[in-house]
Formats: sequence, structure tokens, C-alpha cells
Amino acid sequence: MPIAHPATDARIESLLARMTVEEKVGQLGVFADMVRPFAPDVNPEVNVSNAAQVLEQVRAGQVGCLFNGVGAAQGREIQRVAVEESRLGIPVLLAADVIHGMRTVFPIPLGEAASFEPQLAERTARATAVEATAAGLHWTYAPAVDIARDQRWGRGAEGAGEDTFLGCAFAAARVRGFQGEDLRAADSLLATPKHFVAYGAVAGGMDYNYVEIAEGTLHDVHLPPFKAAVDAGALTVMTAFNDINGVPASANHAMLTGVLRDAWGFPGLVVSDYTADMELVAHGYAEDARDATRRAFLAGMDMSMQSGFYAEHLPGLVESGEVPVALLDEAVRRVLSVKSAIGLLDDPYRSLDPAREVDTSQRAAHEALARDAARRSIVLLKNEGDVLPVSRQARIALIGPFARDVDNIEGCWTLFGDKSRYVTLEAGLRAALPEGAALDVVDGCALEAPLDGGIESAVAAARGADVVLLAVGEPQRYSGEAQSRTRIVLPAAQQALAEAVAATGTPVVVLLRNGRALALEGAVRDAQAILVTWFLGSQTGHAVADVVFGEYSPSGRLPVSFPHDSGQQPFFYNHPRTGRPETPEMTEFKARWREYPNTALYPFGHGLGYGRIEYGATRVDAPALEWDGSLQVRATVANTGARAAEEVVQLYVHDRVGSRVRPVRELKGFRKLRLQPGESREVVFTLSRAQLAFTGADGRFAAEPGAFDVWIAPSSVAGEPARFELLASR
Ligand code: BGC
Repeated sequence: MPIAHPATDARIESLLARMTVEEKVGQLGVFADMVRPFAPDVNPEVNVSNAAQVLEQVRAGQVGCLFNGVGAAQGREIQRVAVEESRLGIPVLLAADVIHGMRTVFPIPLGEAASFEPQLAERTARATAVEATAAGLHWTYAPAVDIARDQRWGRGAEGAGEDTFLGCAFAAARVRGFQGEDLRAADSLLATPKHFVAYGAVAGGMDYNYVEIAEGTLHDVHLPPFKAAVDAGALTVMTAFNDINGVPASANHAMLTGVLRDAWGFPGLVVSDYTADMELVAHGYAEDARDATRRAFLAGMDMSMQSGFYAEHLPGLVESGEVPVALLDEAVRRVLSVKSAIGLLDDPYRSLDPAREVDTSQRAAHEALARDAARRSIVLLKNEGDVLPVSRQARIALIGPFARDVDNIEGCWTLFGDKSRYVTLEAGLRAALPEGAALDVVDGCALEAPLDGGIESAVAAARGADVVLLAVGEPQRYSGEAQSRTRIVLPAAQQALAEAVAATGTPVVVLLRNGRALALEGAVRDAQAILVTWFLGSQTGHAVADVVFGEYSPSGRLPVSFPHDSGQQPFFYNHPRTGRPETPEMTEFKARWREYPNTALYPFGHGLGYGRIEYGATRVDAPALEWDGSLQVRATVANTGARAAEEVVQLYVHDRVGSRVRPVRELKGFRKLRLQPGESREVVFTLSRAQLAFTGADGRFAAEPGAFDVWIAPSSVAGEPARFELLASR
């Protein structure tokens, strides 16, 4: 997609012709927005400055972009200085981390992925863009499209989980949603797939750690969501902090230039992650700041965030000839082209309308969307004895540190949420219950510590109730950047509370709050029902109430496998086959742990609703798929229960023999259906060779002829496969 039309090209060329090297380098600088209220504690303090200094830099033409400030009126002042007081009058890009909502907060992206509805993510991203551009922003550093196969890593919360196919669908949807149909529209927000690339593959799940990765895994698992985002029209990409097999991603020519630009034809700009060029020195990949600048720039990083390295060292590198001026011009051209593509060169005050900023006419619609998105993100893991939905006449005890909490609702990376509008669990449940209903609310413990008399009052409340809603889980700050865990379990104080409550014998429904898959233990694992509620955002309480009282039948499915135990990590459903797979008949000398089989407690794709869904056999229309042909795969899905439900029908394949060992199963399609009680439908998926391709032993991305298994199933472990043959090309 060309990003600037010819007339603006001419304008960009004429600007370039007039720019000094310093002004060119200025366009490549991204700095914290100290002019407008700044979101504190998001990043380490580096290169700290103040509002006056930032405005002076803008005046001097030393700023291409400011980030993480908001406000339309002050944004206009920044642009006025850029346009009227800088020599060339080039407007500044205004960016921020707006990951899953601006004022109205939507579920964390991992939670939203559980909806298996990319079109929902597109709508929440659109609403986010409307609010963000009203607050004076052009650009969001989202979506995170990192594939997270290790639940110890805290940034899995920002992405779409462990699966690449699902990740691609959500990556593309979010880009479309943020950017809308017309990049020049005042409510279009530039998207940034990040972090390029393999950030989710950090060793041991420890954030910022090294990445050692097979070429095939890099290409088949981690790169595709970026490709999907670029194909959906993303014009900016952010680099990652990690190295990839020894070469830092932020100075990785093979990735930034070889893959992104040369192979994919990406026309936009590459921005570094926060001080990622500076970190090349700490990595031991660059000798000093100058060397780091040269390496990052020559690899293909156009914009440098916050380190100030480009400003300080690029002019000298150009002068010495170590960086060709033509390459500098290319980078500047890309930045200006993006500015042009969003209409900023025509209207520097685009998305800086103070009247729009205070207009709340969209709020109700966005909150309704947030409620729907939140309830669609909830996953019902188990429901013994149909304890859910709960009757409104029941005596209910809402117990746990999240019961009335308002500080752990939004989830990580929410910088600008309107906390005054957040709906707690208690508020949501009360709003759904008749006046005077029996709802007893007890904290029981703090997030990470016991409370004096907490367990006693929780036990008393449980004893007096027909059902307990147990609101436990991870504090919000356990997930997100730099939040890696060795044990992905509940804090001990909460586990103790759960044990005491369960011992009363009153049925327990766990309302789990989590930014990753957890290893559930004891009374939490064994509760009668478990609802995975992630961090659901502004409308948390209403969404949970909708599901608890049966206004909405849960339709979320796990985008990450819940393991039996933390020690299984990295655990993901689509792992390569081993030479000694476990079978029901034989467990000795098999790939398993002493304590657990090589399975999940709740697998990827799992989730229940209030209907009763039954799958007929998977059938293929023909025994063979021609090389250039297509094959239909079908199954009948029926709701034999008494309540309507939405079912996520999933298509998996398995390549029985490959030139590289193939995953046990891979998701290749999904569809969400609404089924009335007694209704049954035939679901048909079409397979072609393209869906069967992978990076083979020869390094080529291609399908290999031979036998395949195929399932239409309710999860990544369910069902019996049909079989077909991919025929070689004739
Ligand atoms: C994060 C990015 C974020 C940037 C700017 C970094 O620490 O890794 O995801 O966009 O900060 O706040």
C-alpha cells in the first residue's frame, strides 16, 4: 500500500531538500511528552526533561514524536510551536500506550482473545481510537501481537495468547479497529504491532531475557501476527528489547530490513522500544552509544525512543560517512510519509479538538460495548451440578479481596482510564439483584496478606449462604511489563481463604482474576464452578453479574492452556510431537513429569456455556486434497441443553509426517455460533494447501504432501480426527 500520494511525495521531497542533517535526525526522535499530563511509573526514568525543554526541542525541530501525554488544548500548543516557531513547521506525532481502552477500559487483550471474536476486538479498538483521538492522540503503541507460550511471562496479558492463528486474527482486527477505514479521519489512530519480534519467547518467561529460537518457530509462530498486522494496514512497527539468537531485535538487520521491508514490503516506519538502542550497549552488542546508534539505524530502526542516541550521534555518523545520507533520507521520508498519510501535513491540528475531548455523547455506547466485550471474554471452566447460573433468590456470599476492589479492575497498561466509572463486582451484582436481596460481602483477606478476623467472617458468611462467589486471583500488578513469575499460583493468603470457605461445604463459584493462565490449586481448583474473568475493564461488575445470573451464557474459550503446575511451563497445546508420547495404556518411559502427564488441566480452546453442546463426527468430503484444490470438512454441532448458548467451533489439523517434527495439533479455523435449545447445525470449513504450510527442513515455507488428521472440536484436545491425504502437485 503506497502511503503518500504523489502530491505529498513532492511536498516531502521539498522538505527533505531544505532540511539540515540535524533537522532530519530531529524527525527520528521520540520523547516523553512532558508538556501534557504524563503517565508516571510506566518506564524507567531516562533523559528526564520538563515541559519547557520539550517545547524548546520542538521549536528547534528536534522532535518527531512525543508520547504518553494527553490533552487536546495543550496538544494544540505543542503543534503551534512546531508549525509556527520551528524553521520548517513540521507537525509532531502524538503517541501513547493505549492498549485496551482509553477512558472506557475494555478487557485486557488476552481476555478479549478468549471471546474468539476478532470482530469484537475490532469494535473495541475502534471505540478506543475514538476516545484516544478525542484526547489529542494520533498514534497508539498497540496492538501487542507477541505469542506467549510461557505463562510465567507477564506480558502475555497484552497479546492474544499462545496460538498463532488466533493471534493473527486478533492482530489484524485490532489494526483495522484502531485505524478505521480512513487514516486521515480525525478519529483514526495509527496502530503499532509490537514487539518485533519473538519477545514472547524470552527464556524462562523472564521479561527482557534472551531468546534462543529455531528458525522454523520464529517464522511459523512469532512472525505471522506481524505479517497479519502489516497486511491489515499497520504503518508503524515497534522493535523488541530481546535478542534473537544473539542479535538484538532492535539492531537486527535480518528482521527489520530482510523480513519486514524486503520480504513483506512494509512501507511504514519502525520505532524502537523505549531506550532499546541504548540497551544495545548493556546487551554487549555495541561498544558505546555511537556504535549502538550506528547498528540500530543501519539495521532498519527509523525512530529512536527516549535515549536521545540518534540526536547525539547520527549527525556525526552521517558526516563520517558511516551512515549514508541516502539512508537517513529514507528514514525521514518514512516518518514524513506516515505524517502525510494521516493528514497531519495538511492539518497539523488534526485530532486536537478540545470540544471533542469533553464531549461524552459516545460514552454510553462505549460502556455498553465494554460490558458486552467483558462478558464475552469470560470463560467457564467447570460447572459441577449446574451451580451456575445462580438464582437471584439465592442467599449469596461474595467473598474475596476483589469483591469491592476498584484498583484491580483495569488490568496492566491502562494509563488513562476513567476510574470514577469503574463497576466493582459488588456494585455489578447489586445492580442485578432486587432491592433487599441477600448479598453478603466480605473481603476475607487482602490481596497478599491475611486480614485480622478475615477468615472467620468469610466462613460465617459462607455458612449463611446458599452459594459463595469467591473473588480471588492475581493482583493487577502481577502481569504486564517486567512482571514475570516463577510460580503462577494465587497468593498464599487467598489460597488459605479459599480452603477455609470451601470447608464450610457451601458450593463455591470461583470468580478468577488473572492476567495469564494460572496453575490452580486445592479448593480453588476443586470449586464447583470456575469463571475465568481476567481483568475485564470498566464494566467488570456488570459483565460478571450477567454471566452469574444467566443473562448471558458464557462463550469465551481459553486462548492459553491452564497447566496442572507451574513447573510445566512453557506449556502450549501445539507442541511438537515427541518420540515417546504418552498413551492411556502406557505411561512408563514416556514424555511426562513425575507428578503430571504432559497435558493441561484446562486446555487451549476449552470453555463451557449454559447449553449442552454435542459434536457429531468430523467428516471430510473427499479422502484427498489436490495440491491446488480445496477440501470441505464438516461436523454437526447440536445444543441438547435447555438454554441457548454460543459455541466456538474449532478446526484443528495435524500433519502426520513432516520434514520437521510437526505439532500435535494446530488451530486452522474457528467459528462462533449461537444455538437455541434443541438446535443443531452443520458447520463446514474449507481447507487448502496454504493452511498446511510450514517452514520445512530446507527452510522453505510450503506444505508437504502426505497424510493429515483433522478435527472439528470444542477444544484442542477433544474429539476424534478424520483423515485426508494432501496429494503432490502433478
Ligand atoms: C514497552 C512498550 C511501550 C513503551 C512506551 C516499553 O517499556 O515495552 O510496550 O510501548 O515502553 O511506553
